[in-house]
Amino acid sequence: MDSKAPILLFDSGIGGLSVLGELRRLLPDAPVIYAADTAGLPYGEKTEAEIAARVSGLLGRLAERYRPRLITIACNTASTIALGMVREVLQVPIVGTVPAIKPAAAMTRSGAIGLLGTAATIRQAYVDNLQAEFAADKLLLRHAAPELVTAAEAALRGRAVDPAVFAAAAEGLRSQPGGDRIDTVVLACTHFPLVQPQLAAAFGDGVAFVHGAAGIARRIAHLTEGQAFLRTSPDVALVTGSLGEAETLLPVLQTYGLHSLARF
Ligand code: DGL
Repeated sequence: MDSKAPILLFDSGIGGLSVLGELRRLLPDAPVIYAADTAGLPYGEKTEAEIAARVSGLLGRLAERYRPRLITIACNTASTIALGMVREVLQVPIVGTVPAIKPAAAMTRSGAIGLLGTAATIRQAYVDNLQAEFAADKLLLRHAAPELVTAAEAALRGRAVDPAVFAAAAEGLRSQPGGDRIDTVVLACTHFPLVQPQLAAAFGDGVAFVHGAAGIARRIAHLTEGQAFLRTSPDVALVTGSLGEAETLLPVLQTYGLHSLARF
């Protein structure tokens, strides 16, 4: 294994930073490329076919150009739709992002779990299967909250976000039959942990949040155990959309150790 080979993290936007934050804690020396399909954002409003085509096409190009040692699809929408397909075509270990239904089922005391995700994620059979396997004896209520993706993108650019956005997401779960019993909320979109404090304020006391970022970082560390890491240049963030627009993110990208920005 080439010690300079990067770990590639992929998302539609800034959501994957929630995973990168955890990864930095475990593997501070690992060279990372953070790739965001900003021209395709939001994935949650696209069809399965569109998402599968974009994700497999872009990851194929990225793998060829940057020769990563491992790829992490740091996006629930892309993972629940395209993980199997991408694994079949790329000869690189791929770590996906799975809605954290299993840990939520172990945590809930009331037996009622809420799940916030994108519209595309919450309709996936992948989620039905997780529910059947790990939460068959629980009430699992789902709510699509695309406005939280927009809110997280704005918040990380330092823009003010109306608290009503977070209140509406909470209400989307609370207003469903049994929703008043929810004590555990799965953040099934990597953007959402980036606005967890705002969500916590909206849900009020007595609700715990669970997401996969720390588990994904542990999985990456496990799969790269014993490998040497050598960073020879600053880690880079890549975007498919406008570079000018992405530059508004540079201050926050830098706090995640991403010091330069380029298009791919
Ligand atoms: N961050 C992505 C996820 O985890 C979704 C954001 C989007 O809609 O593009 O699902």
